[in-house]
Parts: sequence; structure tokens; C-alpha cells
Amino acid sequence: MKGILLAGGSGTRLHPMTLATSKQLLPVYDKPMIYYPLSTLMLAGIRDIMIISTPDDLPQFQRLLGDGAQYGVRFSYRAQPSPDGIAQAFLIAEDWLAGAPCALALGDNLIFADHLSVLLQGAARRDSGATVFAYQVRDPERYGVVTFDAEGRASTLVEKPTHPVSHWAVTGLYFYDARVSTFARQIRPSPRGELEITDLNRIYLEEGSLQVEKLGRGCAWLDAGVPDALLQAGMFVQTIQSRQGMLVGSPAEVAFRMGFIDCDQLREIARSVFKTELGRQLQDMAGPAEPPAPLPIPA
Ligand code: DAU
Repeated sequence: MKGILLAGGSGTRLHPMTLATSKQLLPVYDKPMIYYPLSTLMLAGIRDIMIISTPDDLPQFQRLLGDGAQYGVRFSYRAQPSPDGIAQAFLIAEDWLAGAPCALALGDNLIFADHLSVLLQGAARRDSGATVFAYQVRDPERYGVVTFDAEGRASTLVEKPTHPVSHWAVTGLYFYDARVSTFARQIRPSPRGELEITDLNRIYLEEGSLQVEKLGRGCAWLDAGVPDALLQAGMFVQTIQSRQGMLVGSPAEVAFRMGFIDCDQLREIARSVFKTELGRQLQDMAGPAEPPAPLPIPA
């Protein structure tokens, strides 16, 4: 399975913070926002990832993330000339996908949950249909909203309903089978002029192949698209990290735990951020460096 990280858009709801930089590069506590959804994709076991952003912002992402070798993954980059909708990602990436199944993560979404890797790897293993995740929120009108029938099966999907009939929002993490680009070609721009991800999901729903996994109350799903949410996401990460001494949303840690990189490579990343607490934690995780081999004693 391949993965797409969508990190474009104009971030107008975060102006003036995003006048000169991309929203997904803003800090969420001690890391750039894009590290969080990147970690999620990597936790799903995905190692081939395309980052899509605006033509202006793409070089900054390349500077931050490089070719992915440091994490034992491969990054490709492609521009979205204008923010014409989330589902456009599958048209932009169609030739790169070359018929592979694909997960899409929105660059401003953060998911934190116990056993998240089990949930994600389960979704990545399904070979037909699509899987999305639903989370209960107080303000469903800001999101794609899903309703469930008496048997708990998803029954309707509506993008930003004025009068939501459910509190279940669809999160910005989606898993699709090999037909995703073909289906994305079938959808037409919505009244706001965008190729809506909800319209794409509805195609799978109507075909009976959309699996909606409910994220329970033990999970946290945050999107950092407005100033309050950005601050809350930062405080959340700070609280968990300082309380537990464990990292949230670190691609280096995920790469190490998934076996994409070894101790030496993790130590190398830790060295590159050695002045920070993050660097110290990565260093601890990698363990002490092997002592240098003793020099041969001359006969
Ligand atoms: O966060 C989850 C929600 O994301 C879903 O519940 C909604 O169904 C989905 O439409 C989306 O709603 P948003 O209002 O949050 O979408 P927004 O336009 O803010 O875009 C989400 C991210 O995708 C944001 O980081 C910018 C990026 N984006 C968006 C568009 C429309 C792009 O890179 N290109 C685009 O063309």
C-alpha cells in the first residue's frame, strides 16, 4: 500500500500565521504539524509516501523531510496548483499510484490511541473497499458526518451538514483499494468548487464496501486548522509527553519501532536535534553506542 500526505491549502483560518508559511509546518508543541500524520501513515506500515502541497510550500517540505532514507522510507513530492479539493490528490498521484491501494492522511490531523498500529495495519490489509474512522465530536457541522443504522452499519455521509443528525465526524485518515483514482475521476466539484472526499467515500458507501471504524473515547483525534485547535493539539502533546516520558508523533521513533531503521540510524537522527529534549529521548531509545572496536595490538 502507498500513502499520500496532503499538506496544501491556503490555511486561511490560521492567518496571519500562515501568510508566509504552510499550516502543516507550524509547530504542534515540539514538532512540525506534518510529523503527526506522517507518523500515522508509517505506523500503518506504509513506506512509500507522496507529499502533496502547494507549489510555493513544496520546497520547504522537501527541506524538512528529504527523500525519507533517514526513516527507511521513500518520499515523493508533487504540487497541487490550487486547492481544488481533497479527492483531487488521487488524480494528482494517479500515475505514481499505478493501481496500488492507497491511504490518505490530511496534514493537519493528529490521532492518538492505544493499539493504533493494530487498527491501522488492519485497515491497510483489507484488499477491497475503503476504511475510514469516525470520532464523536461536539461540533459535527465542521466535518464530514456519518450516521449509523440500527445494526451499527454506516448509512449516510454528509459534508459539513447545517443540521447534523449525528455527532460522528469522519477523521482525516482514509484507506482505499486499487480503484480509488478511477472513482475519484467520477466525482464532480461541489457547490464550493472542490472535489470532496465525502463524495468519494459515498461511492464506496453506496457500493456497500465502506467500513467505518468508530474510534472510542480512549482515543484523541485533533485537527489543528484553527488557532484554538492548534493550541489544544500542542497542549495535548506536551501533556502526554511530559507525563509519560513517551513521544507522540515522532516519525523517527515509529521508524525505529517498525524496524525501518536500526539503532545507529536512530542515533544519527537524535544527533541532528541534539540540543532538544526530543533528541535526548531519541538518544535514550537508541541506547548507548557500541564502544569502538579495540585497536589491534602490534605484535
Ligand atoms: O479533518 C477532517 C475533515 O477534513 C473531514 O471530516 C471532512 O470530511 C473533510 O472535508 C475535511 O474537512 P476540512 O474542512 O477540515 O477540510 P480542509 O479544507 O480544511 O482541508 C483539510 C486539509 O487538507 C488541510 O490541511 C488542507 C488540505 N487541503 C485541502 C484542500 C481542499 C489540500 O491540501 N488541498 C485541498 O485542495
